[in-house]
This record gives sequence, structure tokens and C-alpha cells, in this order.
Amino acid sequence: MSPRNPKFYLTTPIYYTNGLPHIGHTYTTVVADTIRRYKRMRGYEVVMTTGTDEHGVNVERAAKNAGVSETAFVAKMAAEWRALWDELGLTADEFVRTTDLHHVRTVQWLFRQCRENGYVYKGHYTGQYCIYDNAFVNDAKPGDNCPDCGRPTETVTEENYFFKLSAFQKPLLDFYKKHPEFIQPESRRNEIVSFVEGGLKDLSITRTTIRWGIPVPGEEPHVFYVWFDALTAYLSAVGGPEFDKRGMWPADLHLVGKDIIRFHTVYWPAFLMAAMLPVPKQVWAHGWFLMDAAKMSKSKGNVVLPRPIANMLGMDALRYFLLREVVFGQDGNFSYDALVTRYNSDLANGLGNLASRTVALIEKNFSGKIPKATERKPQDEALAKEVQAAIGEALEGFENLSFARALETIWGVIASADKYLTTEQPWALGHSAEEQSRKATVLWTTAELLRIVTVLAHPVMPASTAKVWSLLALPGSVEAVELDGLRWGQLTPGKQLGPAQPLFPRVDKNEAIERMEAMANEELNPAPATQTAKAGATPAGAAAVSPTSPEKISIEDFAKVEMRVGQIKTAERIMGADKLLKLTVDIGTEIRQICAGIAQYYEPEKLIGRKVAVVVNLAPRKLRGVESNGMVIAAAVGPEGRPVLAGFPDEDVEVGARLK
Ligand code: MSP
Repeated sequence: MSPRNPKFYLTTPIYYTNGLPHIGHTYTTVVADTIRRYKRMRGYEVVMTTGTDEHGVNVERAAKNAGVSETAFVAKMAAEWRALWDELGLTADEFVRTTDLHHVRTVQWLFRQCRENGYVYKGHYTGQYCIYDNAFVNDAKPGDNCPDCGRPTETVTEENYFFKLSAFQKPLLDFYKKHPEFIQPESRRNEIVSFVEGGLKDLSITRTTIRWGIPVPGEEPHVFYVWFDALTAYLSAVGGPEFDKRGMWPADLHLVGKDIIRFHTVYWPAFLMAAMLPVPKQVWAHGWFLMDAAKMSKSKGNVVLPRPIANMLGMDALRYFLLREVVFGQDGNFSYDALVTRYNSDLANGLGNLASRTVALIEKNFSGKIPKATERKPQDEALAKEVQAAIGEALEGFENLSFARALETIWGVIASADKYLTTEQPWALGHSAEEQSRKATVLWTTAELLRIVTVLAHPVMPASTAKVWSLLALPGSVEAVELDGLRWGQLTPGKQLGPAQPLFPRVDKNEAIERMEAMANEELNPAPATQTAKAGATPAGAAAVSPTSPEKISIEDFAKVEMRVGQIKTAERIMGADKLLKLTVDIGTEIRQICAGIAQYYEPEKLIGRKVAVVVNLAPRKLRGVESNGMVIAAAVGPEGRPVLAGFPDEDVEVGARLK
């Protein structure tokens, strides 16, 4: 690899498939995506991975409750996780499923390496096991609850393969000493160092009480302990046993929540050392987003979902809020109130207002052409100096993952621009040559400041900064700007501004909160009609609905769903949403606009005229900002849940005919 393109490999945890993503999960993935964008703008070749952790007792039970096989259950859940990440613009470069064959082989290979090197032996283990966290609880007695989640533990005795973790106490402590940057933040490092100093017990890494896991070759019914399986996903994502070919291993950064730091900084490096493989460079543990002062969980009923926020305020607003609101590494409270307040003050009144004011003034005074700065006054120079300094500070913030600080610096620059405009009052200047030239300098200065803010904010707010970029008619795309070359003074005058685009329309706080809560409620507790439409078929609009509902419904419930034969009139792709197509569908009585998650499998042109099954009495909703009024029915086929449209190939059915 050329020295001009150093590599950077970062990961999110792989998420459990027994639930769907809430903003706690979204937080980790947003951070990863932001770092990925930032590093790319600094010239790195970046790979970001995420995925789904699909084995273990929880999945076994959830699948049983849902009355489906584990394979079908996880396939569906993994498809939903993936679809939501895509919808939120958070598509990773690699998505690992722990049921992928390649991953299975990597886990088995890693085990062999550890065993061949003498770090694995067979023994018996009896202990208290938390089935929710998939972990034995050290020092717990029968009847004790799990200290992490508070739920009852179960006594389990098994014949296991053990990993000689105890042999790694010294190597780990030496490693932490030699690489103080390995565990971040500092406080977590101290915590882990004292844990390891307290002594390490050998770890059982296979199970015989669980069926749904990766088999230990030749040792059935042993399957791998979920954490031995899950951690290895980081390696399988970039080549597994052949990681050398891809050149990405070791990982540069594992992003994790503070709940899983021990697995990542004790077990994982020990497994790798035992296999004589390179150890990751850094593990960064962030805090939790709390709701009502508690960690979000579906059973507590305090989860906040990302989709309603993205639909109402835009994904950039959620990204900004998550990164600005709490210091990375600490816990923070989520509240819709704080979210909308920040949206209105920092985005609508801050960046949005600066952009629209700048553009309006240039339109009015210079026919939309960026003017040329002529004579610079001390206040112009002072602002330039401040912005130049802010570039360094913001980059340092990003580099240290101090996102709140980086954003504070950038928004400090926006505030200075507002102040500058208020003092300079370009709108009050007349038409004399002198005043015209002053106006030009002030407006060039403001536009240049806006350009720099746009570049710096891009890793956090990719969509809206791309809009400002085209508004300022800047060359190329904002993500291609090299941060190392960013300086004050690079804005070329004379360019005609691009067409105006709404950035962050102000919202009424109460109304916005009500709407987001209503959308979240609908998603968490879907009306029977929505569930019915999902039984055996996937709505191509891909709403995230619990697949586990075991109840049967009555014929009256079924009758609430109105389905009709529709005919597709137009079909087009939606910018920025790889999976969605915007359709107009004739349902006999009217033409409806419906979004369908089928873009990766159907060519829009080929859909015209096709007859499909449509749920017509579904409450309208927005998908990626586009209203969808109804739902086209599709079967979910194969492990990826590939949508196949339900249709009427044999009969010439009338458009609008009811399905019953
Ligand atoms: N499957 C394991 C990870 C295996 S990695 C080899 C797991 N999955 S999880 O779905 O329960 O959670 C994964 C991560 O989601 C957490 O570590 C954390 O990064 C994030 N979060 C889950 N809830 C969270 C909050 N309420 N707040 C912030 N992040 C949280 O653990």
C-alpha cells in the first residue's frame, strides 16, 4: 500500500438479532460512520464493518416463540437491521453475519490456532449463567441475579473446552503498559488494568447446553461460546484466515459501548495472542444514551427509535445531536425536547440561517455571483484568523474523537459569522463604488467561512453539507475535499450560486415531538393490520415490526386490512435511498404514491403496467422524506429477505379488485 494512503480499519460491535436498532445502537454506528468519513477526508483508505450477532440461547428461544426456524428468524432480523442502516445512510463497507459460512470457518480456524499453540483444554464448568447477556456470572451463587441486567441467572454445568486466559495476565498487562492508547478513555483503561491485575480465570469457550451455535469441528455437540464467535467477526470481515491479502488487519479501532469493554480488551487480545495474530490498535468505549435515566431496553419500554427522528428532522439532525449532546465516552440523557431545541437553535437558526442569509445577500447584491474581496479591514482579517485557528481545533477534536468539542468549535465559527454580519450590516450599504466594494468583501468573507464550516461539518452531517456545497457552486463534491489542505482564502469569486435548497426548516417543538412519538409508537406497537400484512410476506415498504408476535388474529382483525389489486403507473428511484422505489399505483379508485423497498431487485422501467397486491388502508408515512400511502406486498425470499412481488400472472384481474 502506498504511504500516501494509509489504511484505517474500524468496527462497530455486531448487534444482537433479538431486537431491532434503537438510538443506542444508532449512536455507535453514527460515530463509526463519522470517523470513516473524516478519515477518508484525511486521505486514509478506510474500511468500516458492522454486522449481526446471530447465535445463542436468546435467538433459539425467540425463534421458537415466533414458530420459525432459527435460520429463518435470524435471516429476517439481519435483513431488517441491514435495511434500517441503509435507510439511515449508515451502510458499512462490510456487514458480517455470524451465520455466514466464511465467518463460521474463521471461528473454527481461530480455535484450531489457539489449540495447536497449547491454549485450549477440556474441563467441566458449573456456574451461574445469564442467558440474556450470554455469559457466566463470576462469583454468583444460585438464586443471584445478573449484575449487568438484573435478571435471574441459571445454574449450568457443562463439559467445556477452556481457554487458558490465566496464561495471559502478564502478556496483557505488558501490552497495556506498552500501548497506553489501546484502551480509551483513560478511566476505562484503569478499570481494566485493575481487573486483570486481580487475576484471570480460564474461560470456557464451548457449550454443550446450546444447540444454536457454530459447531466445534469433530467435537459435536460442542458449539462455540457466543463471545468467541462474535469477536472473531472483526477478523472474518476482512479476510478471516487470509487477512493478509486484504491488508486491513489489525483493526485500528474497535468502537464499543462501555458494557462490552472487557470482552474486547481482555478476551479478544488474549485469543489473538494465543493464535499469534496481531492485536487491534485501539478499543474505544463510549457511554450510554439513557432514557429516563435508564439504559434503553424494550422490556423497560424506554427505547427511542431512529427512524421517526430521521423522518421528522432528517438523519443529519440526529447525527448532530448524538455527537454534540454528550462528551464522547460519557453517558448522556436522550430527550426529544433537547433534540428539537438543538435542531431549531443550532441547525435551523445556526447553519441553515447562515447559509440562506449569505445566499440571499449575494443574490440580491451580486446577481448570485460570489463577489471578490478587495480591501480587507482588521475585522475581516480577525475573522479569517479565527476561522483558520478553528480548522486546526476542529480537526484535533475529530482526531481525538472529541466530537462535541469539534462541533462546538465549528458552531463557534457560525456564531462569529452572525456577529460579523450584524456589525458589518452589508444590507445597509449603498451603491457607491466604495460601499459596493465593502459589501463584496463582507459577503465573500461570509461565503468563505460558510465553505469552511461545510467542509468541517461534513463527516457529521453528510447530506446537508453536500447541499450547501452545491449551493455555493463549489467544484467536485465535499467529501472529496482533503482536510489537510483546507485553508482560509480558497474560495474563488465569480461563480454563480446553485439553486436554493431548504436545509433545516424550523419546526414547532410540541408538534414535532408529538409526531415523532406517534411514529415511534406505531413502529413499536404496530396495529394488527400491519402485523397481518407481514405474516408470511414482507411489506416492501420494510417497516421494522417485531417478527415474534405469537398471537393469532380473528377474521375480524384480518378484515381490517384492505388489500386490492393495483397497477403500477410510474416507478422511479429515490435519491440517496438505494433500496427504495417511488411508485404511483392505480388502485381502481385513485392513484396512490407508494414507496417500496425493492430497488435493488427490480428495474423501475420493467415495473410499469405490472399488477401488484396493495394494502390500501395503511396510515401514510414518510420513507426517506417521501410520502408513502399504502404498501405493496412482497414475499421475503432467501437469507437476505429478497423481495419478490406478489402478483397475478394467470388471470386478467381488474384493477381495484379486493383481495380476500
Ligand atoms: N452482540 C454484542 C456485541 C458483540 S461485538 C463482537 C452486543 N450487542 S448489543 O446489540 O447488545 O449491543 C451492541 C452495542 O450497542 C453496545 O456495545 C453499544 O455499543 C450499543 N448500545 C446499546 N445500547 C446502548 C445505549 N443505550 N447507548 C449507547 N450505546 C448502546 O453487545
